[in-house]
Amino acid sequence: MSLRLERLVYESTATGTTESFGNLAVILAESQRNNDRDGLTGALAAHRERYIQVIEGPAQALDGLLRRLEGDPRHRDIEVIGREPVDARQFGRWTMASARINPEQGALLDQLAASSNRTPARIVAILREAVGGADQA
Ligand SMILES: Cc1cc2nc3c(=O)[nH]c(=O)nc-3n(C[C@H](O)[C@H](O)[C@H](O)COP(=O)(O)O)c2cc1C
Repeated sequence: MSLRLERLVYESTATGTTESFGNLAVILAESQRNNDRDGLTGALAAHRERYIQVIEGPAQALDGLLRRLEGDPRHRDIEVIGREPVDARQFGRWTMASARINPEQGALLDQLAASSNRTPARIVAILREAVGGADQA
């Protein structure tokens, strides 16, 4: 089995409200349980009825998760912003962190959405900052 480490960044449109702490808490709990099993780490943010998620781990585990995400009725229109091999994890401490977007970070995400240079690296940097703390080595 290939253990090549990859990082996936996508956005999707929530079908229910992202304002409900309950909705997000359920998704996070499921994600943490499965990701612990699958060797995946990452962060999930909700902003303007959109989900923004960074997931990193073995390519095969990412493929399996993408298939499940595509069949999940809690969101639609998954748009992969980037998927690439990486040398190290940026979210190694979190099986799935809740990235709470502050108004400044929200404004940055809005700017990126409206621009042509919405690169995965920029989104990763915003989510990493929203999660806070220092990553493990
Ligand atoms: C926005 C969003 C993010 C999700 N993130 C993950 C995740 O990181 N890991 C995961 O296993 N499931 C995640 N899920 C849930 C999957 O779509 C799917 O429901 C779940 O993996 C199925 O788990 P089960 O086989 O234990 O029922 C997410 C769902 C949504 C709507």
